[in-house]
Amino acid sequence: MGTSARAVFDDFIVEARKVWGPQAPMSERVSQILPLMQGLVSHPAIREAVKSWPSTEGVGNLLLYTDPDYDFVVNAVVRDPGRKGSVHDHADAWVLYGLVEGTETLERWRRLDDGSVPGYAKVELESASRGVAGHVDVVSPNDIHAELGGPDRSVAIIFRSVRLVGRVLQNGYDPVTNTVIQRSGPNQAPFEIAA
Ligand SMILES: [Fe+2]
Repeated sequence: MGTSARAVFDDFIVEARKVWGPQAPMSERVSQILPLMQGLVSHPAIREAVKSWPSTEGVGNLLLYTDPDYDFVVNAVVRDPGRKGSVHDHADAWVLYGLVEGTETLERWRRLDDGSVPGYAKVELESASRGVAGHVDVVSPNDIHAELGGPDRSVAIIFRSVRLVGRVLQNGYDPVTNTVIQRSGPNQAPFEIAA
């Protein structure tokens, strides 16, 4: 019998806490978390475990872990085939977005206006990159983006540098109506990875 997904995840948290502890600049911490995330999302035990994780359609995010000392958060999202995510940012958080199963496309958008008109935002698509299982994207603070599901079910594990929900508002953009609204982010549904 191989290592359990729970043990793999717990090891990841131990290593992530070592990176987060020394108070290095956030960009350095993120660059050290990146290979840890790549190892996590490509681990055979994790890839097997996510097959039974519940869809998060209409739920928000699964909440896998909140660090009691450093406030980083690990979420998961399980998308139905063809699911289109909205255009949004994550305010001042760094986010590492790692695909465990399926394919997804990460769109990056650019804001064209100066933000001086309340509720107005003009954004245009800058790039779109398709990720396959094992791929981890880094989304910097205030980067405007959208995650789009692929033709099959897809599962991602998301590392957030700080807890946002209930703490800070994030922007949601509508490229059709050129509007922006502030919202508190996805609902957090606690989820235990089985031992
Ligand atoms: Fe996002």
